[in-house]
Amino acid sequence: MSLGRIAVLGAGGFIGSHLVPGLLERFDCPIDAIDVDLHKLECTDARVRRILARVEDPQLVEAVTSRCQVVISLTALCNPAQYSTIPLEVIDASFTHLLPLVTRCSERKVRLIHFSTAEVYGRRAVDAQGEPTERMNEDDSCFLLGPIGRERWTYACAKQLLERVIWAHGQHGALPFTIIRPFNTIGARMDYLPGIDGEGMPRVLACFMSALLRGEPLPLVNGGQQRRAFMDVSDMVEAVCRVLERPKQSGGQIFNLGNPDNDVSIAELGRMMADAYVRLAPERAPARFEVVSAEAVYGPGYDDTQERIPDVQKAQQLLGWKPQKSLAETLPAIVEDYAVRYGARVAAERPAWLTRRASSE
Ligand code: UGA
Repeated sequence: MSLGRIAVLGAGGFIGSHLVPGLLERFDCPIDAIDVDLHKLECTDARVRRILARVEDPQLVEAVTSRCQVVISLTALCNPAQYSTIPLEVIDASFTHLLPLVTRCSERKVRLIHFSTAEVYGRRAVDAQGEPTERMNEDDSCFLLGPIGRERWTYACAKQLLERVIWAHGQHGALPFTIIRPFNTIGARMDYLPGIDGEGMPRVLACFMSALLRGEPLPLVNGGQQRRAFMDVSDMVEAVCRVLERPKQSGGQIFNLGNPDNDVSIAELGRMMADAYVRLAPERAPARFEVVSAEAVYGPGYDDTQERIPDVQKAQQLLGWKPQKSLAETLPAIVEDYAVRYGARVAAERPAWLTRRASSE
């Protein structure tokens, strides 16, 4: 199946770096792989044109919307630690910088597959009356964001507003669009290891990998009883391919993409990762856990979602898609990839780490 030329904005990010090879396997089409940093995109297929550029660059927007038939937009600042520490950058990356792209796609009728976020649902799943429900539904759930002082929700709010802009272009203009709300997608190359290829606090998977590789306790924010449904990135890639293959069914729709069967507490996730790591490195001391307060880790302005389970019936009906991979299947390979990718670099920093530790004792 040929879709014409596809632009992947954010091709050097975690999902983008899995999506580009997945698209090449499925479709015979050229891809513009665009990002400010493409080192995670390990694929060397000749059909990929690697472009280092910013999504807000007007020349890039013109070039992409004039030569591509499909735009997949993945760029964002999507680590919760950033939402309350650099909120203006987060709002720009999720909203302001993407507005010209959306407008141009609409004017040129370029198909836009936009990645929003499960964060838009907010603190928990609620129905139209604000009553709690088990799962978050694309077309029925309301959004329960915290007050303005809880800056955690700047990201959700910016993402929600862009969804509304895209929706309006579709309803009142001619923008062919699909909005995707990813739920805690995990896999190799997610985020970074602090002090090695990034700074600050990444999302929970990379935080736990950092602790495991460095022999430090896994931090459980507020005890780790909050829950997330984690999905393997390969299930995400399959869903996006189906969105592309089925323009009639996916056009004008919002899809939750996540795996409700992999709903676990953060403490359980930590235990599963620790088990996978000990099988890989039996000589290491058993993992330890430590309860930390959200305030101590994220500073003021943080807030959390206690439970986030997607309703994926619409994706099942319209795309014929169902996530396949259980956590037990997916975690060992992810843990191994981090260990291989970062093991030597973490080992090399050991003397410094031991010195730091010794001086604080
Ligand atoms: C984030 C983003 O905001 C979403 O946009 C995105 O869809 C989602 O991640 C994702 O991974 O796909 P969140 O689930 O809160 O949302 O992200 P994490 O930072 O991975 O945190 C998950 C939970 O683990 C939170 O309750 C957090 O407090 C906790 N956590 C995090 C720990 O207990 N320990 C840590 O070291 C890090």
